[in-house]
Parts: sequence; structure tokens; C-alpha cells
Amino acid sequence: MTESTDPHSDDRKARPPTERGRTVHGEAANAGHRVLAPDDAEVEAYLEQALHAPPPQRVETEAPERPDAVAILDFGSQFAQLIARRVRELNVYSELLPHDTPMAELERRGVKAVILSGGPSSVYDAEAPKADPALWSGRIPVLGICYGLQLMAHELGGEVVPSTRREYGPASVTITEAGGLFDGVEREQPVWMSHGDSILRPPEGFHATAQTDSTPYAGLADPGRNLYGIQFHPEVVHTPMGRDVLRNFVVGVAGARPNWTPANLVDTTVAEIGQRVGAGHVICALSGGVDSAVAATLVHRAIGDQLTCIYVDHGLMRKRESELLRVTFERDLGMNLVMVDARERFLRRLAGVEDPEEKRRIIGDEFIRVFEEEAAKLGQIDFLTQGTLYPDVIESTTAETKTAQKIKTHHNVGGLPPDLRFQLIEPLRYLFKDEVRRVGLELGLPEAMVQRQPFPGPGLAIRIIGEVNGERLETLREADWIVIDEIKAAGLYRSLWQSFAILTPVRSVGVMGDGRTYANVVAIRAVTSDDGMTADWARLPYEVLAKISSRIVNEVPGVNRVVYDISSKPPATIEWE
Ligand code: XMP
Repeated sequence: MTESTDPHSDDRKARPPTERGRTVHGEAANAGHRVLAPDDAEVEAYLEQALHAPPPQRVETEAPERPDAVAILDFGSQFAQLIARRVRELNVYSELLPHDTPMAELERRGVKAVILSGGPSSVYDAEAPKADPALWSGRIPVLGICYGLQLMAHELGGEVVPSTRREYGPASVTITEAGGLFDGVEREQPVWMSHGDSILRPPEGFHATAQTDSTPYAGLADPGRNLYGIQFHPEVVHTPMGRDVLRNFVVGVAGARPNWTPANLVDTTVAEIGQRVGAGHVICALSGGVDSAVAATLVHRAIGDQLTCIYVDHGLMRKRESELLRVTFERDLGMNLVMVDARERFLRRLAGVEDPEEKRRIIGDEFIRVFEEEAAKLGQIDFLTQGTLYPDVIESTTAETKTAQKIKTHHNVGGLPPDLRFQLIEPLRYLFKDEVRRVGLELGLPEAMVQRQPFPGPGLAIRIIGEVNGERLETLREADWIVIDEIKAAGLYRSLWQSFAILTPVRSVGVMGDGRTYANVVAIRAVTSDDGMTADWARLPYEVLAKISSRIVNEVPGVNRVVYDISSKPPATIEWE
């Protein structure tokens, strides 16, 4: 999620767990249907499949270094990850853990503070998620947000009533007790509210610290027991003082030292990888995306030539992308890069294919074949590196805590399955996407790679509507290059989730000089989005659209008309196929 997060409900979007040979969205890597996965994940999943890799062996459960950390206990709020990110923005390391994480585990991890997230439940629900009662002991400072506060109040003997109407949206809060969480915060503040239950009477020992028109208990505190709560959401941008409140709690009340940065993690991660790998051999699939690029660079720092990266040039990449990859990894970083020129074979298999799902299936299948051939040439491989990010790790464990735990124990206790050939190295598994980008820049990777917008694994093949052939690819690549060039020149590239060209199967009449033309129609798509699940078409300035349009028809042979796609998702998807 990004700064523009607009809260609509507190219900979490369910996502299946990550499994080997599957995309992060749980679909078979070459199932052939739309996968909505980061390109890195899709390509990595093809490599796994080619290697017949067994289920993941995720035995480590904590970050390699032990900075002062804050635990966010997840009660199902869609904002739980956002809280974790906000804390990290204060330069304090944070981790998202299941709501029922035992106090003993929190103490073992040495966490300096605990934040209870909001959630869609009512404390009166039969299945209402609970926390370990030892949390209320005061040994670690606790901040309850929304449901977290109601749970705290309910468990400690206060009176919480279910209300028929959910208070949801902007509200104005009055700080009634300065200091503590509200140190340095103005008395009247806009905040974002979202709750069903209300607190009628706080538990013994608590007093009110903030109020709104609808509740005298928008903030509660029992400083003697290190317990604090707020009814509003400090993590969303609609609560401007939210950052101060979080800082006051994490740094002020709990005394965590703000000395963590994503880059700190690099040195320790590199040392840890070196130790783990020993003399072993590691393989990594590069997709052209940022996650696999940063992961490979980190592993290369740790073990140099023991890492081999495979990049399959399927000919469906954007202009100059494969070249940038070769120059960066082979020339500048001196990596062992196996760059497979598979352009011909992909084109051959795609010839005559028009159905989008069939294109995806063929591309996945061909990827797997290429990887199989290349891996067979490499001899012994002991480890597989992947650019798995923190959101994927937590979603695959917290959503299915119990099952995931079982699988883990099975691996821990039962020893390694006899056919286990690889172990997983996931150097980015504690980082959010924006943090990975920062690390990538620090490692000296080119901006074009680090800031790249998401790009689908099947590449331009699903942006050419109908049959893919060399000539149509060339036309689209040139048009697409102009779109990106102009979007970047206008300073818009990073504010857009994706921006690209589509080659439609439509031809239309035009005039050029004295002659009539009958040529291709190119469509432009630019969208804003937080996560690709929903998207809005971007209101690009007319001047930018005009420039793109005139450059495309003037510079790209065979195109005489440009249209702009003004559909949002839903009901349209981002890609056209
Ligand atoms: P749609 O078109 O479903 O796309 O709105 C949502 C996001 O997913 C990407 N996408 C894909 N990524 N393989 C991928 O790796 C695919 O087959 C694929 N299809 C869509 C799309 O670019 C957008 O970011």
C-alpha cells in the first residue's frame, strides 16, 4: 500500500499462501490464466518448477540482526502492514505477528513495544481474536488501536458495547490530556475512525486522554501499567498527527532506539548468507524486476562466483531491458550470468496463437523447459534464491497460521525429506517493496531497474491483442518506449502503478501527406493503484497524451492512430488480455 491508501473497510483480502512452483497468489506457475503476481514471483516459480523443487524450508523465523523491535499483533486489519511500515519509517524495526503470539515469545524476541492492530471483529463475536492475557502485565508497553483498544478495555473489565452502526470516516478529536502519546500534538486534530463497538466505561486504572463528538474515550491510558489505546487509526494518511502518536509511543513511551534502516539489514544479511551457503552453489532467476535483481545482488556480495543467475530472454521484454540487465549484472557487477537467447523458440511456439490464456500457458511452459535445460548444465545446485518480500511471508503465515506452523514443525522435527535438493535463500523476506528499492539504490543498481513499474511475466505477448509475431512485437516495443519516455519526461512515472502501450488488432484509415493509410491502432493505458487489485485510469495531462500520440504516429511505422483507455478496474482489468 502507498501513501494514497484510502480505507474502505477493515476486512482483509484473503490470499492463498505461497507454495513452491506457484505464484505468490497460489496459482500454478504455468496454469495459463491471469496471475496477478509480481513478474519476479512468476519467473521464480517457473524456475522452481523446472528444478522440481520441494516445499519451502523456511526454518528461520526472525530477522538476522536484533535491533530494537516493535511487534504489531495482527487482529485482521487491512492496515496491519501499514502500521508496520509506519513504525519502520520512524527507523525502528517492526514485525507483524499473529494476534495470539505468546508473551513469552515476545519477550524472547526482546521486543520493546507491542501494537495491537484494528480488525473487523467485535469483542463479542464467538470467534473474536484474543491476545495473551500476560500482555496486560505492563512488562512491555502496549498500544491498542481500534479493535486492539476495545479488546484491551473488554479484557481488563471495562464496558464495551456493540453498536448497530459502525462509525467510519473522518472525525475531529480533542486531546484532553497532553503529553504521553499526544506529546507536542495540537489539541484539535482530524483523525480517521473506523469501529463498530464502543467503550462505555474504561477499565479500572485507565483514564481518558482524547474524545470526539461520539465517544468520550477516543484515547485511554494507564501509564502505571504501560497500557495505551486509541480509537482512531494513526497509520493512515487521513490522520495527519498519526506519525507523531506512533513516534511518541514507540520512541517516547517505549524507548526504542530509532537506529534501524533497511540498509542496516544488508551487512548482516550478507554475512548470514555467506555462512549458510558455505561452499555451496546457488541459483537465481532474474526476471528484469526489482526484487530478483536486489536479491541476486545481495547474494552475489556474499558468495560471488558461487551464484549463477539465469535470465531467459524470451523476446517479450521492453526495449533495451535485456541489454540493461546484461550490462548491469555481467559487466558492472561481474556476475555469473547465463543469458539465454530464447527469442526464436518463444516466437515459434506463439505463432498462430490468439487466445490470451493459451499464450500464458505456452510462455510458462517454454520458460520451464529453458530453465530445465540450463539447470542441467550447471551440475550440483544447493540453494535457490528468491526475491520473496515481507508481505508475501506474512500473508503466507498469518493467514494460515496453524497450518503453516504445522508444516514448519514437520520440517524442523522430521528432518529433511529425502528428495530435498535445495534450500531457499530469501534475503528480502523482512523488507517491504519500498525498502527493497532503497536497498537496490544503495547497492548501485540502475534507477531504471530499481524503480521499474510492475511488468507481467508473459511480457508484451499479452499486450499484443491477437497473434504475436516479430513485426508486431517491434511495433509495440517502439510505441511502448515512447510512452515510457514521455511519462518519465513529464515526471509521472513513479506516481503511476503502470503505464504502457497496447497493440490492438484494429486497423483504421488515416491520411499522411497526400496518401490514405490503413494502419494499426495503438492504445495507451496508464493507471494508479495501491496493489493492482483495483485501479483507476490516470488523468494524464492532455499535453502529455498529445506528445505521446504525435510521437507514436510519426516515429513508429505502421501506426496511424492512438487512443487512450479510460476504464477503471473493476470492471476492466489493467492488462488487456
Ligand atoms: P490485471 O490485468 O489482472 O493485472 O488487472 C493486475 C496486475 O497483474 C499483472 N499481471 C500479470 N503478472 N503474469 C504476471 O506476472 C501475468 O500473467 C499477469 N497478468 C497480469 C498486471 O501487469 C498488473 O500489474
